[in-house]
Amino acid sequence: MDIDVIGLFPEAVRGFCDCGIVGRASQLGIVTLRFWNLRDFAEDKRRTVDDRPYGGGPGMVLMAEPVARAIDEVRAQHEAPVLYLSPAGRVLDHAAVMEFAARPRLILLAGRYEGMDERVVRACADEEWSIGDYVLSGGEVAAAVVIDAVVRQLPGALGHEDSAREDSFVAGLLDHPHYTRPELWRQERVPEVLVSGDHERIRTWRLRESLGRTWLRRPDLLEGRELDAEQKRLLEEFKREYRG
Ligand code: ADE
Repeated sequence: MDIDVIGLFPEAVRGFCDCGIVGRASQLGIVTLRFWNLRDFAEDKRRTVDDRPYGGGPGMVLMAEPVARAIDEVRAQHEAPVLYLSPAGRVLDHAAVMEFAARPRLILLAGRYEGMDERVVRACADEEWSIGDYVLSGGEVAAAVVIDAVVRQLPGALGHEDSAREDSFVAGLLDHPHYTRPELWRQERVPEVLVSGDHERIRTWRLRESLGRTWLRRPDLLEGRELDAEQKRLLEEFKREYRG
């Protein structure tokens, strides 16, 4: 997969992408990342990319022309949809991440300051996405979030093949709790079932914990969702234990 990142601080995203799972995936050629600095597309010697907003108000607005020139340059090399990252976009979720991961190419456009001239958003951005209902100082962090979530879904990106499949949200449920050594830590033991070696008991325990956590913390994820007979039984069991 090819991902291009356009922004004012692309090196911040690059630094993140050199580490961990994403760094490894790019070394293996699973993803090819390119970074573009908007200032390189400014029209003047001072490399100006922003100006005051028409109508007044605080902050600065990214100018249309440098953004359009950057996008044109990237698209001349390879055509790809432009995803503009802004708090006014559609909120990212697991389904969107999976859909992005199935595309061969993406261009991520990170905004800064108070926003971007709306004309270039309309002319050049294909989609507008937010990573949540809060405002960041810029879209670079959001671009890093999108890259991380997408790259871990690419075949071969994770050392252990099942890890992405078992992530929270993959089955529409929160993940079950995890434990590692030591078995006894500050007076607290790892749940007995996990050291039992009984794979079927471990599977049902994990499923019950997933269902129970989702019910407690994110009941919205269970709304309108059809649970199968086993899931219903395990959730009832969890609720009984919780209430008792
Ligand atoms: N830029 C600023 N805030 C953002 C957000 N919440 N999501 C995506 N891009 C942003």
